[in-house]
Amino acid sequence: MADKIPVDLHGAAQTMLTTLYLKALDAQFDQPVLGDQFAKEAVERIDFDWDALKAPGRWAPLVTVRTAQYDIWARQFLAANPEATVIHLGCGLDARVFRIDPGPGVTWYDVDQPPVIALREQIYPDRPGYHLMATSATDPSWLSEIPADRPVLLLAEGISMYLTEADGVALLQSVVDRFPAGELQIDFYNWFGIKTQKTHRLQRQSGATLHWAVNGPADILDKVTGIRLLAAANLFDAETFSRVSAGFRRSSRVARAVRPLRGMLQYHRYAFGPIS
Ligand SMILES: C[S@@+](CC[C@H](N)C(=O)[O-])C[C@H]1O[C@@H](n2cnc3c(N)ncnc32)[C@H](O)[C@@H]1O
Repeated sequence: MADKIPVDLHGAAQTMLTTLYLKALDAQFDQPVLGDQFAKEAVERIDFDWDALKAPGRWAPLVTVRTAQYDIWARQFLAANPEATVIHLGCGLDARVFRIDPGPGVTWYDVDQPPVIALREQIYPDRPGYHLMATSATDPSWLSEIPADRPVLLLAEGISMYLTEADGVALLQSVVDRFPAGELQIDFYNWFGIKTQKTHRLQRQSGATLHWAVNGPADILDKVTGIRLLAAANLFDAETFSRVSAGFRRSSRVARAVRPLRGMLQYHRYAFGPIS
């Protein structure tokens, strides 16, 4: 067997090891929410003490419900726009491009910080129409390198909270202003998630700091001009929550009943440009 690939990541970049690992654990369940074999294989190839994350499989739905929901929304966008550009921002080691396997009319950009992209290059193969961009999302220049001749899907999963509100809003607005039409599919933590970040062990372990809280679509619609809401869900009312085990459903009863906890993980979908 080939040598395992070493990793040395810190802060926000390290957080994607946890999301990858939880997807890999989900892939081993009898009834997975996401069933991502790419995540399982990636974890097997990386030289890392996964047990040290102390991320039990029962927590997997905190990630997989979201990822599966964005897979559904991304497929819907691509079914309606077979000639399109996808910008998968803060991709980490997520294998969405392989799970979705878009058609030849789609150009796909996986964008993340340089150390993450360097690791990604060692793990996943290339494919036609697929590009990696090693940059910070807040660098003002990377977006101008992506041709703006087609509808765009900006899919930003698990990254907004690491940005400041000013940077995040500016980024969304710059996508809306640059492309003729498209969608923004992006998730957020609410105020409670940001305020209690020190109490979340996985978050603390990574050393990353969370900044941007969004409490509902109004927060985005008020600040980003030219967009309209297509859908908004939280962990518990996402359509993919129907895939979680009875055990997870039971153990999350209290969180579901307490409003700030229920709304902590928010999944939003917006459109811009002419209505087709
Ligand atoms: C929690 S992980 C999510 C990874 C992946 N989207 C997933 O769901 O598995 C957060 C990702 O956002 C990336 N990230 C955070 N801040 C970033 C920035 N300013 N520019 C680019 N990527 C960033 C991190 O490097 C990391 O890969």
